[in-house]
Amino acid sequence: MIEKKMLFTPGPVMTSRRLKSVLAHPDMPHRQPAFEQIVRRIRANLLTLFRADAGYVAVVVSGSGTAANETALSSIVRPGEGVLLVKNGEFGNRLEDILACYGYERRTIDLPWGTMPDPAAVAAALAANPRLAWVCMVYHETSTGMINPVRAVGEVVRSHGRKLFIDCVSAVGGQDIDVLRDHIDVCSGVPNKALAGTTGCSFVVARRASVPALGPDLPRRNVYLNLQKHIEWAEKTNQTPNTPAVTMFIALDAALEELMEEGLDARIRRYQECAAILRAGVRALGLRVLLPDAQASNTVTSVFLPAGVMLKDFITELDRRAYVVYAGKGPFYDQNMFQIANMGWIRPADCRAFLKVLTRTLADMQKHG
Ligand SMILES: Cc1ncc(COP(=O)(O)O)c(C=O)c1O
Repeated sequence: MIEKKMLFTPGPVMTSRRLKSVLAHPDMPHRQPAFEQIVRRIRANLLTLFRADAGYVAVVVSGSGTAANETALSSIVRPGEGVLLVKNGEFGNRLEDILACYGYERRTIDLPWGTMPDPAAVAAALAANPRLAWVCMVYHETSTGMINPVRAVGEVVRSHGRKLFIDCVSAVGGQDIDVLRDHIDVCSGVPNKALAGTTGCSFVVARRASVPALGPDLPRRNVYLNLQKHIEWAEKTNQTPNTPAVTMFIALDAALEELMEEGLDARIRRYQECAAILRAGVRALGLRVLLPDAQASNTVTSVFLPAGVMLKDFITELDRRAYVVYAGKGPFYDQNMFQIANMGWIRPADCRAFLKVLTRTLADMQKHG
C-alpha cells in the first residue's frame, strides 16, 4: 500500500478521487471507436484550453513532457534553418539538450537562472541572423517559478516573420495561455502538473501551417516522436502511430473534463489564491522568496531556508510528516532553496495546513539544531 502524502510538488501532483477512480477503467483496446471518441474529445478540449482556432491541431504523445518537446522540436525545423533559444533555468537547458541532439544551428540568449528575458535582445538576435527561423522558450520556468515574457517575445517573433515554440509543460492549466494573442506556433504540455492529471502522456498543439511537410527536403529524423506522423494519424482517425498509453489518455480526458467543469479562469483564480496564501505564510515566517510576485507563476514559490537548516534534512523531515516539496535545482540547491508548488488537486485549506506543518518543522529543526 502506498502511503498518502500531500504533494506540494511541481509534478506529479495530487489528483481528485474522481480522477483516481477513472484509472480503474474496464480494459480497453485502442483501435476502436470508443477510444477514438476519447482522443477526439481530448484534442478538442486541448484546443479550447490554449484558446486556439481551427488553424491549430492537437496531438497526444505517449511519454512525459520531454517526449512532447522532442516530438515538436525534432519535427518543425527545416534543414538549413537555425533556432534561437532563450533560456534562464533548468528547463531551458533541457530544450537546449534536444536542439543540440538534433544538430540544429543555434544561437542562445543564456541568462542567469531567475533573470527575466528582454524581448529587445530577441529582436536584436533575429535582426542579426535571418537564418534563425524559430525562437524557443519556456513559458513557466519551473526551476525558478518565473513566468517568461511570452506575449512580448511573441510580438517580436511575429514582427520579424519567424516562428515561436513555447514549452508550456508547467504553465498549461495554471496560466492564461492564448496561442493566437501570443503568436505561439507550436507548444507542449502535460496532464500531471496544473491540469491535475497523471503522468505518462503529454501533448503538442501546433499551427498546421507552421509544421513543414515531410518529403525529400525534410526527411523524418526519428521514428517514435515524429510530429507529422502524430498529426497524420490524429487527423485521419483520432489514433496514434503506435500503441498509446491507453490509461493515461483516459485519465487526461477526465482531467480535462474536470478542468472544463471548474472553468479555466476559476482554476487559475484557485491557484492564485493558494499561491498568495503560501507566499504570505512563508514571508510571515521571515523566509526569503526568490522572485517578486509580479514575475512569479500562479503555481510555484521558490523559498530559501533560514541559516542553519540543511536542505536535505528539511526535505526528509517534511516528508516524514507526510508533506513533499522539492529541493531547488542547479545553483539554488547550494543556496538551500526549496520549492513549494500549488498545482493539482490542492485547495486553500491544504495550503494553510501545509504552513502549519512547515512552521512546526522549522521550529523543531532550529530547536534541535
Ligand atoms: C517547463 C518544463 N519543461 C519540461 C519538463 C520535463 O518534463 P518531463 O519530466 O515530464 O519529461 C518539465 C518537468 O518538470 C518542466 O517543468
